[in-house]
Amino acid sequence: MIELNKKYKLPSEFAEFIGLDYANSTSNKHKKESGQFFTPKLISDFMDDLTRPKSNKISILDPGCGTAILSCSLIEKLASKIEIKKLRLTLYETDLNVIKETKKVIEYLTKWLRKKGVNLNVIIKRQDFIIDNSSAFTTNSLFDLKEFTKFDYIISNPPYFKISKADIRAIIAKELIYGQPNIYSIFMGLSAKLLKPNGELIFITPRSFAAGNYFKAFRQSFFNSVSISRYTYF
Ligand SMILES: C[S@@+](CC[C@H](N)C(=O)[O-])C[C@H]1O[C@@H](n2cnc3c(N)ncnc32)[C@H](O)[C@@H]1O
Repeated sequence: MIELNKKYKLPSEFAEFIGLDYANSTSNKHKKESGQFFTPKLISDFMDDLTRPKSNKISILDPGCGTAILSCSLIEKLASKIEIKKLRLTLYETDLNVIKETKKVIEYLTKWLRKKGVNLNVIIKRQDFIIDNSSAFTTNSLFDLKEFTKFDYIISNPPYFKISKADIRAIIAKELIYGQPNIYSIFMGLSAKLLKPNGELIFITPRSFAAGNYFKAFRQSFFNSVSISRYTYF
């Protein structure tokens, strides 16, 4: 770790290095089946540059975190703009092998933040993001909403692959589904439900959600609670 600290100045640099190394060790089949394509640092920095800090007490959710490069970039940008007092980071990842690598990145990030006097409170959930938050789809009263943990920032490069309508995740998220669902849109729709008022969703996704009948139900639900303040087409 001492040598790595010398080589990589920022946690996001370390996360990118670890991610490349891990991606080299996995098959194309694994990548395709788990929708695992890591974000390059150039893109994660670009995404996170757009954030506007609103408070120095911050909660972040990174569903489908991989090596947590997006969270690292986001935290670096926020730390360069404000003095963070409280920081809570929640990560979801289903690939148990990559989680071993994510832990190294989190250790690095924790040390980096400690030098700045920031104590990182982190939880890594080795669960399916959709199944673990299924109750968000059944809640409809304001009273129930209070029971959820909600976030100031939700950042994600979600998995992309089609699932069948009989998949438990499609059943959980049925209000978003019409035709054959793609898991990325469920990540987006669910995240919108887990966002605090005035919070920010920062997602890199395909653009297929923006048009067509298949995503009509998704758009109706999603744009009921969020509005787009900026998009970039890659
Ligand atoms: C497109 S990759 C992005 C990884 C990372 N966010 C990044 O930007 O480099 C999506 C990640 O989500 C994970 N994943 C797939 N299905 C998931 C699920 N249902 N719940 C949580 N994570 C999932 C994959 O293992 C993969 O690491």
